[in-house]
Amino acid sequence: MKKFLIAGNWKMNKTESEAEEFIAALKAKGLSKPEQVCVCVPFTDLRTVKKALEGTGIGIGAQNCHFEESGAFTGEVSVPMLKEIGIDYCVIGHSERREYFNETDVSVNKKLKALIQAGITPILCVGESLEIREQGTEQTFVAGQVIADFDGIGIADAAKIVIAYEPIWAIGTGKTATPDQAEEMCAFIRGVLSGIYDNETGDAFIIQYGGSMKPGNAKELLEKKDINGGLIGGASLKVDDFAAIAEAAAGIE
Ligand code: PGA
Repeated sequence: MKKFLIAGNWKMNKTESEAEEFIAALKAKGLSKPEQVCVCVPFTDLRTVKKALEGTGIGIGAQNCHFEESGAFTGEVSVPMLKEIGIDYCVIGHSERREYFNETDVSVNKKLKALIQAGITPILCVGESLEIREQGTEQTFVAGQVIADFDGIGIADAAKIVIAYEPIWAIGTGKTATPDQAEEMCAFIRGVLSGIYDNETGDAFIIQYGGSMKPGNAKELLEKKDINGGLIGGASLKVDDFAAIAEAAAGIE
């Protein structure tokens, strides 16, 4: 059976009370496969959302972390701090963090290692800009990200990492990659991983598509062979839309 992870990425949205309201409404939906769903929320919402999700099977994630365990890093949050809250996932290397907060493949790699060591599943984002896509060098670019981000990560740990292929030109723009474009890149990424590790490991990866996924396009994207779910921004802020995407995945064998 195909594996899926439908992950909401709230970005910098929802106060604690708004988060509580959202989770109550999501619970009321009675998702048919909650274990393949998670919400990645702002740090300030983590405790409240964790509590609200108790017993639902729905996972919880953060959207960033620091790679050091503790120390003089004003404003940062460490992996042990997240671990104690009991989170399941952490988004790493989102294009917004790479663009606005100087996230590099070097820091991404350190964060992946820190999370794996703590037993938290990273959701690693990769993807090309419009400029790169127009030059036709998206495969070289994304392969470079994958190779650098996985540097020094052994075969036993590799497939614990969820990958989100997010073409930057499709994020928050309403411009979705076509199912064929998304599949082509997700299959390509799987091939790169099979090359680094082996075919069995490559096949085991959960590779999500992200970028303007919504109820209207989720099914045809998720039906593609190499797409194991979605990292969903805008549509994850609306309970009806997010639940509809989760159900689209739940309906696929
Ligand atoms: P979007 O965002 O669904 O709003 O395009 C996706 C993401 O940035 O993870």
